Amino acid sequence: MSRARFLGTGFAVPDRVVTNDDLSALMDTSDEWIRTRTGIQERRWVREGETGAGLADQAARRALEAAGLEPGELDAIVYATSTPDHFAPGNGVYLQRLLGVGGIPSIDIRNQCSGFIYALSVADAFIRCGQFRRVLVVGAELQSTGMDVSTRGRNTAVIFADGAGAVVLGPGNDERGLLAFDLHGDGTYAEKLWVDAPGSMYHPRVSHEQIEAGRHFLDMDGKEVFRHAVARMPESVLAVLAATGQTPADLRLLVAHQANLRITEMIQRTLQLRDDQVYNNIMRYGNTTAASIPIALDECVRAGRVRAGDLVALTAFGSGFLWGSALVRW
Ligand code: COA
Repeated sequence: MSRARFLGTGFAVPDRVVTNDDLSALMDTSDEWIRTRTGIQERRWVREGETGAGLADQAARRALEAAGLEPGELDAIVYATSTPDHFAPGNGVYLQRLLGVGGIPSIDIRNQCSGFIYALSVADAFIRCGQFRRVLVVGAELQSTGMDVSTRGRNTAVIFADGAGAVVLGPGNDERGLLAFDLHGDGTYAEKLWVDAPGSMYHPRVSHEQIEAGRHFLDMDGKEVFRHAVARMPESVLAVLAATGQTPADLRLLVAHQANLRITEMIQRTLQLRDDQVYNNIMRYGNTTAASIPIALDECVRAGRVRAGDLVALTAFGSGFLWGSALVRW
């Protein structure tokens, strides 16, 4: 069994920049409130007509180029998103169509902010068991189209944003690659961060009443999410390190899901990591859910903050609640 290795990374975000002042013009909020509570200074939101699969296509092509591969050399796609372009089918096949790789399997992962970690674990298992060699793993999200941009929605609208990140995984022949995973979920908290409608339990799946009540918008109990996130992510990072007999001091880099700068700062303190061991870009992109880790990872790779042989931990927490980590020898 060979370990899955990262062959290339890439990301894409919409070119429309939305600043905190832009949001203050739409709702009762301020640059000062958003910066101090979340760390976010600006984010990217799509323009009308842009799609999640379209962003994923751009990110995937950059990851393929970095890997030195053509789309036709892929064996499978694993696509994580909580915001597919349509209720069905999932976005994997739309990406497949844009990449022109019809015929290969495509799997959609619906695990929200932890989607990319779960997607990596699925791709890793396929590669380890020898079923597929080259797997494209995508985390992509269009959150802006599901935000209530009135004051009613201000606790989520200022946080969530759009973007896509992609990695190409393939079998390695040495000690480099994905070393360990730690995955968890607890449905007790499903309604603490969720989108109620449309839902197939409703007839029809979405009603005028639900729309008037805003039940099609992302709804979050921010305090509860915060409380769990700052405990679960460090625990999970320690679990993948312990599984391989290592400690936080051995990490070259921690890339945590970009949920909120205050959350990442608390994780850093709990794990006693230096500033140079932690990467944050939430200031520029907001919380892009399943896309945040692969976007941050690609920035780190291209900036030379991750080099061959470095130990890197990836960790996420979010809606479900679902959380987990991956440990990589780059
Ligand atoms: N601008 C201005 N005021 C806002 C606001 C905004 N965008 N959003 C909420 N407020 C107000 C609230 O209405 C509340 O007002 P009140 O005291 O008059 O009722 C006040 O600010 C405090 O709200 P509260 O929700 O208690 O703030 P908080 O300190 O918990 O911060 C979050 C809110 C959302 C920033 C914080 O809970 C958080 O970061 N949670 C985790 C969110 C997260 O990371 N989610 C993604 C996980 S994947």
